[in-house]
Amino acid sequence: MRHLLSTKDLSRESAIRLLDIAEDMAEVQNREVKKLPTLRGKTVVNLFFEDSTRTRISFEAAAKRLSADVINFSAKGSSVSKGESLKDTAQTLQAMGADGVVIRHQSSGAPFTLATSGWIDAGVINAGDGMHEHPTQALLDAFTMRRRLHGEASRGKALDGVAVTIVGDILHSRVARSNVWLLDTLGAEVTLVAPPTLVPVDVSGWPVAVGYDLDEAIDDGVPDVLMMLRIQGERMHAAFFPNEREYSRTWGLDDERLARLAGDTIVMHPGPMNRGLEISAAAADSPRSTVREQVANGVSVRMAALYLLLAGEES
Ligand code: CP
Repeated sequence: MRHLLSTKDLSRESAIRLLDIAEDMAEVQNREVKKLPTLRGKTVVNLFFEDSTRTRISFEAAAKRLSADVINFSAKGSSVSKGESLKDTAQTLQAMGADGVVIRHQSSGAPFTLATSGWIDAGVINAGDGMHEHPTQALLDAFTMRRRLHGEASRGKALDGVAVTIVGDILHSRVARSNVWLLDTLGAEVTLVAPPTLVPVDVSGWPVAVGYDLDEAIDDGVPDVLMMLRIQGERMHAAFFPNEREYSRTWGLDDERLARLAGDTIVMHPGPMNRGLEISAAAADSPRSTVREQVANGVSVRMAALYLLLAGEES
């Protein structure tokens, strides 16, 4: 794998392979010594132009557990504030010997530009670009679903026939976009449930069903997975920010809806969560919730992605 920019680019075979390698990496996490020598001598740069907790820290942990050297770059406090361009920033990091660049950027397409412009030789991983994609989040979500649904027998499996309902701010969500493409590739059936104002206008080409009633989705749809999304206030004009009480009452996974979920339905959220808005504290902390598993699985999945980029064969 040369770059990881989008889940749309992943074949079913390569997605399952990455998830299986992540299983191997998860086994390493359970050992007393959690490190492998695989990327000794390689340098991974975390190039973050947007804030992050989970993604940046888990990429750092993943690279270090594969014995790579890690350089963390945050746009805040860097020469980006003096007007330095993405090209000059990237080439500065290339000059420092980057083998892999993990980039989060507010502009959709920035990772693609970095990977294809010829500015740098390093492999590029998209850690979230604008409202476009967040492929490693979708991969860790799929890994988490596979483990919850198939348990010990996860290896080699896809998600055929699994009913996944993604709820909330689809419009601004790169997590939703990456999940839609990957889940379709893995055979899952995806339904989006959102206020009409938070569904993208271009959704007609997506392999999904669309609904506007969360109660109907829970009571009649009986999803295997209910994925709640964060309301992304930072990407909305203030005039369009929904009334919080109204949003929570109509679109939130509150305690009453949590109690009505079918026996095996799991509750996911990519984080960070707005507790009390799209998800109640009881739902976030319930045994159905995979929120903390998703974070832990993120390290294994990102180890697998770095391995395939920097140590795996070309494909
Ligand atoms: N899910 C996710 O991308 O979280 P961060 O913004 O904290 O990285």
